[in-house]
Amino acid sequence: TPRVFSGIQPSGGLTLGNYLGAIKRFVEMQENGVESIYCMVDLHAITTWQDPTKLRHATRELCAGYIAAGLDPEKSILFNQSQVSAHAELGWVFNCVARMGWLNRMTQFKDKAGKNREKVSVGLFSYPTLMAADILVYHATHVPVGEDQKQHVELTRDIAAKFNHDYGVDFFPITEPVIEGAATRVMSLRDGSKKMSKSDPSDMSRINMTDDADTIAKKIRKAKTDPDGLPSEAEGLDGRPEAKNLVSIYAALSEQSVDQVLSEVGGKQFSEFKPMLSELAVEKLAPISAEMERLMQAPDEIDAILRKGADKARVIADPILQKTLEIVGMVR
Ligand code: TYM
Repeated sequence: TPRVFSGIQPSGGLTLGNYLGAIKRFVEMQENGVESIYCMVDLHAITTWQDPTKLRHATRELCAGYIAAGLDPEKSILFNQSQVSAHAELGWVFNCVARMGWLNRMTQFKDKAGKNREKVSVGLFSYPTLMAADILVYHATHVPVGEDQKQHVELTRDIAAKFNHDYGVDFFPITEPVIEGAATRVMSLRDGSKKMSKSDPSDMSRINMTDDADTIAKKIRKAKTDPDGLPSEAEGLDGRPEAKNLVSIYAALSEQSVDQVLSEVGGKQFSEFKPMLSELAVEKLAPISAEMERLMQAPDEIDAILRKGADKARVIADPILQKTLEIVGMVR
């Protein structure tokens, strides 16, 4: 039976990339009736130092974002990772299954560590083994993510296969990444070769889920483009990363394909298209940010939702962890 798991780090605010690449897809899966588990991965967040007060705030705000975007704690399990200790425990077992060479090839680690390999945390290096544990402790079969997480989900498959092989069992499923839609990789508004990211030093590079209408309009107005107008077919966007990015965002927000959008706006200049994009973005995002703000007025209620979600998550995760430990040879 299919089971969906995905997670987002509460390390800073949510961006349009997180929304289009992940949360919007989570809501679709929930609405399709698939059993879904969505996590705020606070243990992953501390692989780089987080101010404790800000971490707590970001975790609650992420939960508010999930709910405001349409996730329903009665239909999906919503919780923060550190409340279900099975993640960390299975993560340890996977530290002993995964190979140094596999983790050395992870591009997210290489990007985040840069030249500073001696100084980053051990947790940043072993990050993907904990992510594999997040997924496999539920025997999840499908993981909706943006393009940048593909390599980590592939590593999860390798870990599951090696565990099954090393212990001669058919226990962990080989999970499928689900990377679909028009905006699997939303790019920076300032540089079409860089991913839109909550950690980019320039706030003008991204749209935050909490930005107000004026800020969204300003960021789109100032977004980098090339001097040409819009083509009428998707091929016309090849080699034009900034133009392609804005059209893809429009497509994802309006739930159309890039070709459908271009059949409508092909031939227009960006001076005409950008106000259309701003209007659409504000129309779609303003209700979500207003609802997030409302939910954040009652942090106790958010905490109660996370605790209840964690209770439900443990019911699935704990037996799978216990079975794993038994397979490995731990006395029970
Ligand atoms: P994180 O917190 O960096 O991002 C959360 C989700 O948002 C997607 N995303 C994007 N999609 C499109 N365009 C962008 N510019 C963009 N930026 C971010 C990410 O692909 C991701 O789906 N390692 C994960 C968190 C994680 C996880 C898991 C995910 C931990 N355990 C288990 C799935 C399953 C991460 O850092 O995501």
